[in-house]
Amino acid sequence: MYPSWILSVVAGLAGAAQAIRYQRDSSDPFQIYAFGDGIGGVPLISSGKSAYIGNYELLDDPEAAPVVFTASTSGVWVGTPNKTDLADSSDPTWSDLKLYVPAASATTHTVGLVNATTAKTTSLQTSGFDFYGTFVYVTGATGGMDMLWYAVPSGTDGVYALRWNTTGDDTDGSIPITLKSSPPSNA
Ligand SMILES: *[C@@H]1O[C@H](CO)[C@@H](O)[C@H](O)[C@H]1NC(C)=O
Ligand SMILES: *[C@@H]1O[C@H](CO)[C@@H](O)[C@H](O)[C@H]1NC(C)=O
Ligand SMILES: *[C@@H]1O[C@H](CO)[C@@H](O)[C@H](O)[C@H]1NC(C)=O
Repeated sequence: MYPSWILSVVAGLAGAAQAIRYQRDSSDPFQIYAFGDGIGGVPLISSGKSAYIGNYELLDDPEAAPVVFTASTSGVWVGTPNKTDLADSSDPTWSDLKLYVPAASATTHTVGLVNATTAKTTSLQTSGFDFYGTFVYVTGATGGMDMLWYAVPSGTDGVYALRWNTTGDDTDGSIPITLKSSPPSNA
């Protein structure tokens, strides 16, 4: 089900798990881009809740924007709307929310942003995010470099919901993806 280039990347990662992990300068904010079958480097966007990949304008939500992350040394990624080129109809009121994936014990698949102060986060993992080269991985409970990203069609044409860990999710049209820090080279 996974394209062979993804499998070879994952196999390479497994073999190199003990190799040097490339560290970014954690003071540099960055956006995240998704790559997969039919998804050629599409930015991660959000309205301050669930994470999507696509053009934020299609969501027709004034809170929607591309997300800019800042990484802390503990692998916590804090997301804020990138307001640089927002459409006039956009006016996000959220900021400084933590990226999460479902905890290994959770049966949910949603990836998103959360205010860890107010939200019940025991079923969410809000740390362990890092790059291997330009690939985004999450450090799992046993220390592995997990890259279980996939996308499913959202309710909006041209926008996908970002999800984690296909096990137990048989949603039609699910697409395995990688997340990277680099925009498409032809952008
Ligand atoms: C924010 O958006 C602008 C305009 O699209 C872009 O040039 C800039 O690189 C983005 N910021 C980051 C940190 O990616
Ligand atoms: C999280 O929620 C608390 C309580 O409502 C609030 O004081 C804090 O500003 C919020 N943090 C962020 C980053 O929105
Ligand atoms: C993936 O989901 C399965 C089933 O819910 C769970 O057992 C497993 O721990 C999850 N893996 C990760 C890395 O979250």
